Amino acid sequence: MNTQQFIPKILQKSTDNFSFTWKTPSNIALVKYWGKTDPQIPKNASISFTLSNSHTITTIDFTPKNDSDSQEEISFELFFEGKKKEDFKPKIAKFFDRIKAYCPYVLTYNMVISSENSFPHSSGIASSASGMSAIAMCLMSLEKSLTETEMKPDFINQKASFLARLGSGSASRSIEGPLVVWGTHPEIEESSDLFGVPFPYQVHEVFQNYQDAILLVDKGEKQVSSTVGHDLMHNHPFADQRFHQANENLTKISKILQHGDIDSFINLVESEALSLHAMMLTSNPYFILMKPNTLEIINAIWRYRNETGSKICFTLDAGANVHALYPQNESEKVLQFIEDELSSFCQKNQYICDVVGLGAVKL
Ligand code: DP6
Repeated sequence: MNTQQFIPKILQKSTDNFSFTWKTPSNIALVKYWGKTDPQIPKNASISFTLSNSHTITTIDFTPKNDSDSQEEISFELFFEGKKKEDFKPKIAKFFDRIKAYCPYVLTYNMVISSENSFPHSSGIASSASGMSAIAMCLMSLEKSLTETEMKPDFINQKASFLARLGSGSASRSIEGPLVVWGTHPEIEESSDLFGVPFPYQVHEVFQNYQDAILLVDKGEKQVSSTVGHDLMHNHPFADQRFHQANENLTKISKILQHGDIDSFINLVESEALSLHAMMLTSNPYFILMKPNTLEIINAIWRYRNETGSKICFTLDAGANVHALYPQNESEKVLQFIEDELSSFCQKNQYICDVVGLGAVKL
């Protein structure tokens, strides 16, 4: 795998301060990533819708180090929603450690990272995807300012996704939109285990501006982190079968998205969500991230679909929240259904109305 392309060649020495701010979204996987090897290489290809309303805004202030400062150590402060966040630091420190070979300039600055999320704190929405991709974009803005040769936008996005992946696998899919594939797959041109690529084929209009209502069933801290869950796929009795299934599902969803076959979309997306959770149920140690209200919502969605012919479907990430996905032309009716029948299963009746978006935005 060619990672050399991501090592910058000629960088200017600069004594200037820099500051960059990026807004990057969360994403919701349709075919799930669950299982990886070092360094953050996925066991199967995955695809996600990029979201827009669920996002992180991050500013990084870069101040050149003095000669007396260590040039060997990464130096950064971290603020989350205005407050110093010591407990997030180890994850970010590990991220910088992984990327410093590709971004040697990070060793020459004192960095102040200030971040905020659009979604409520600990809403159970994975913030690692939006958080890591925002940092990656700020680093790429700095690299662009320090690089003497011209950097093409495609390269910037690719390297940002490459860096974000090293922070959190799913973050590689939060740089661009509306659909991103991460992981080498024979039917997706240019796909790579190293970074996400925009889905390269024309998508049928029914899947444009797709809606995602995120139903906040459980806002508490997860009992089992994604990192532990990924680890449990080593020696998992159904691992090989699962990786095979996911890759086959990617082949299928590629055609579904192009042809607009929404019934097959519903079947595949719901099956993927349940297969992901089946991996958790059948790992050892085993665990359950769904809550009773997760199942209440799933059953209510099935009932509503049967009764009305709606094309709403659900997916899950590694938690109890339910993502209700539906075409834009059903918005009014589905929102009424959510308000009347699903919101009572959400903590404090809370849900977030999101829509598919186009990825990172510089502010
Ligand atoms: C269930 O990207 O959070 O959301 O690479 O360890 O940071 P790390 O894991 P992470 O895993 C996401 C898992 C998932 C499925 C998906 O987004 O594809």
